[in-house]
Amino acid sequence: MSMHASLQYIKVVPAVADRPFCLATQNYVAWPLDSALFLPHFIMYSLTTLIVATSLLSASFLNAFPYHKRTSVAPGSSLVNLRIEGESNTIYEAPIFSGPRNITTASGGTHLCDGTNLAANPTPGNTCTDALDAASKLAKFPYDGTFDQKFDDYFITSISTTTETSTMFWGLLLNYQFTPVGGCQQEVKPGDNILWAFDAFNKVYFLKVTPNTLVAKKGSTHTVTVTDGTTGVPVPNAVIDGVTTDASGKAALVFRRTGVFEYKATRSDSLRSNALYVAVV
Ligand SMILES: *[C@@H]1O[C@H](CO)[C@@H](O)[C@H](O)[C@H]1NC(C)=O
Repeated sequence: MSMHASLQYIKVVPAVADRPFCLATQNYVAWPLDSALFLPHFIMYSLTTLIVATSLLSASFLNAFPYHKRTSVAPGSSLVNLRIEGESNTIYEAPIFSGPRNITTASGGTHLCDGTNLAANPTPGNTCTDALDAASKLAKFPYDGTFDQKFDDYFITSISTTTETSTMFWGLLLNYQFTPVGGCQQEVKPGDNILWAFDAFNKVYFLKVTPNTLVAKKGSTHTVTVTDGTTGVPVPNAVIDGVTTDASGKAALVFRRTGVFEYKATRSDSLRSNALYVAVV
């Protein structure tokens, strides 16, 4: 006798450098009761069930006793999209949940960062630097910044392994526009796109690829468009998946292998684009 069971789960991997966000699916099929594999499978499934049951039970137990909740959410917290483009790699590109907090950097010390810095906003809220701080803790990359008393804000000098030079600095854009104020003064709305970009002040374009997700049949061709996120103009001569964009910023990509892939558009004088995720089926 042979019984076939199927278990599928989705694993969310926290952001790491170069592989900022990954949804991996894994299939376990065929559970042959009559084979030597039965025992290890049985143990594995039993352990999984035990772990899931324990975590469900403890979650509902803790919910029944709110005093046992480990963390509190600062008022003004929100979920935003954060992208950090270092000198030669993407340091972070994923949603991040953050809010008002006290921030500590090696060069700047500890200061409140909640949008009320230099009275920029009347009420505390989530800011661009709060998002950076939260991501650095989640994805475990360091960052540093000096603190300017006059601006009541941090000046970010280094993120991950990308440190400013005498001519290249970290810049901050919100929804592809340079922010007029510092990162602790710039409050954000849910769903906003925060971009910390290295050498931002020397870039011609901030590349943006659309769409940013695609499901493609193996062997099919899809046209994607590269524009400048700041102005919306099409960007020619950008390269994505080895294809150069034409005068209208378009590139026809052919997907030959099945799987989930990530592509970014680049151009030597511009900031690399957001990721295009393609599921080839
Ligand atoms: C920041 O630190 C001060 C002093 O410890 C504290 O009173 C305040 O609640 C903190 N603010 C936040 C948003 O964590």
